[in-house]
Amino acid sequence: MSLSAPPRLLEVKDLSVHFKVYSGVLKVLDGVTFSVDAGEKVGLVGETGCGKTTTMKAILRILPIPPAVVPRGEILFQGEDLLRMRPDQMRQVRGPGISMVFQDPTASLNPVFTIGEQLGPVIRYSAPENRGLSRRQIRQKALIPLQDVALADPERLLDAYPIQLSGGMRQRVCIGMALATNPELLIADEPGTSLDVTIQDQVIRLLGELVERKRTSVILITHSLGVVREMTDRVYVMYAGNMVEVAPTRRLFANPLHPYTRGLMEAVPKLTGGGMAMGIPGRLPSYQHPPSGCRFHTRCPHVMPVCRREKPPFFQAEAGHQAACFLYSPEAERHRNEAQA
Ligand SMILES: Nc1ncnc2c1ncn2[C@@H]1O[C@H](COP(=O)(O)OP(=O)(O)O)[C@@H](O)[C@H]1O
Ligand code: SF4
Ligand SMILES: [Mg+2]
Repeated sequence: MSLSAPPRLLEVKDLSVHFKVYSGVLKVLDGVTFSVDAGEKVGLVGETGCGKTTTMKAILRILPIPPAVVPRGEILFQGEDLLRMRPDQMRQVRGPGISMVFQDPTASLNPVFTIGEQLGPVIRYSAPENRGLSRRQIRQKALIPLQDVALADPERLLDAYPIQLSGGMRQRVCIGMALATNPELLIADEPGTSLDVTIQDQVIRLLGELVERKRTSVILITHSLGVVREMTDRVYVMYAGNMVEVAPTRRLFANPLHPYTRGLMEAVPKLTGGGMAMGIPGRLPSYQHPPSGCRFHTRCPHVMPVCRREKPPFFQAEAGHQAACFLYSPEAERHRNEAQA
């Protein structure tokens, strides 16, 4: 028996992603570090454009290269660095290892194939014992993920084309498909944001029940702090390509520390479009010329001289609760005095 702790399910260390575009280099992800344990449900919040989807695409290695480049970082999944994997090894990870539900269900289903034609190969390659099954047997098995997501008449659905389904049904199909491989980790990136609010709510609730039943680990990206509060164990807050705070969900809501998180909480429920309704004035900075030091310093009501000079590391405030902000540094008093000098 080994005494060493098992590796975390996912551990992202110091991940940077840039986009080389015509006008220059967009330094989007700037040393992103976070982790997910087996069985854990982790929330990720932050306003549109802060780099959430880029982080998830980097994990699955589905960023468009070019324009994307990954100048540094590690993405350890069950202890193995995905950034060093060969394409054929990566194909084994996608699906049975990590699966993703995208914001727009229309974009992830191919319009020219029936649901059955798209679900069939997913089932066939999800487990070695499925490889040799007949088409009929695969079809039988393909009914299960559709039943899992509470879709009526799954037999008929297998022969339907995506365009014949409503947006809500398509999103359910995508969730069923993503979970059909029994992944270790499901990444749900704003599932249902393109749907109307009631349907969105139903879809997220259904997803919550399914992952609970299957004990899948989850990264849930959502605009709804209510959903995060209800469905996750731990939350990361992201700002302009940096993780700025992490805490057990209950602690984050009871005691938000980072000035950005505090602004987010005041801005509820409006995270999308035109910046934030209240809370913090201003918007995300340019990624081509990001602010020095703390990327939030251009909007922060507590900015101190050190914030412009240095990038704040994570400081621990209580068990499992860290904020990347000099206000929580052991030297905070000295930094404040410098501000007043
Ligand atoms: N393919 C791309 N080319 C250039 N810039 C991109 C590309 N993909 C994303 N970006 C930029 O990266 C930033 C973060 O985007 P994204 O990860 O989609 O944010 P979020 O998911 O948090 O809304 C945005 O400024 C976006 O314009
Ligand atoms: S490090 Fe400074 S600028 Fe950044 S959030 Fe903290 S106080 Fe504000
Ligand atoms: Mg996104």
